[in-house]
Amino acid sequence: MKGVILAGGLATRLRPLTLVTNKHLLPVYNKPMIYYPIEAMAKAGITEVLITSSPDHAGDFTSLLKSGEHFGLSLFYGVQENPRGIADAIRLAKEFAKNEKILVLLGDGIFNFDLRSIVEEFDKEEKGARVFGMHMATESKQYGVIEMADDGKVLSIEEKPENPKSDIAQTGIYMYDEHVFDYIKTLTPSDRGELEVTDLNNKYLHEGTLKCHILEWWIDAGTSYDELLRANNLVAQKVKEGELS
Ligand code: DAU
Repeated sequence: MKGVILAGGLATRLRPLTLVTNKHLLPVYNKPMIYYPIEAMAKAGITEVLITSSPDHAGDFTSLLKSGEHFGLSLFYGVQENPRGIADAIRLAKEFAKNEKILVLLGDGIFNFDLRSIVEEFDKEEKGARVFGMHMATESKQYGVIEMADDGKVLSIEEKPENPKSDIAQTGIYMYDEHVFDYIKTLTPSDRGELEVTDLNNKYLHEGTLKCHILEWWIDAGTSYDELLRANNLVAQKVKEGELS
């Protein structure tokens, strides 16, 4: 399986911190934010990873991360001309994926879950997609919201709904089979002008091949100053406790 990390977008919610730098280069305690998904890829056993970013900051990523050797990875770089959504950024990985399945990580997500066994299991499956959810009492409506049956089957996913059907937030971890690029071609922009990852995941839901795993903790460091601060504090605590390095 190949890896794709998305590090584009304008990050307007974090201005002025992101006026002259890319959000994913901001510090989260002792490392730039982008290190966390990169290390998660290496831990998951993925060896080739495409990093997509915006034209104005693509060079910063190559300066920082270089070939990826330092992480035990081969890194490749892609440029998303305009921030037209997560599914639009995934589209850039078509040639890179070469008909292999892909693990997609949003560049602002921090977690310590070892994806390796799920990657290995998913790689053997004939088709489908995986999403990862997390119980988030009150804040789930800022995210995609996953409604799940008791047996784990996904019943619905809605993007930032007014009235969430559950407390399960869709995290920034996704796995797709090689049909993902055909599905992306059928998507139309949402009201916010983006090709939505939730619309993409719903294609697999309707096909009946979407599964969800629940994570204990995952944090979106890029949604607000408060979440960025919370990510810094949480990582600092976990480094001191020895859970993260
Ligand atoms: O964080 C998880 C949430 O991510 C999910 O619960 C939502 O279902 C999903 O739509 C997404 O929501 P956001 O609106 O918070 O996504 P955001 O615009 O913050 O972008 C997430 C990451 O994707 C961020 O690291 C930047 C990258 N990105 C985003 C866009 C819109 C790109 O690389 N290109 C883009 O065009």
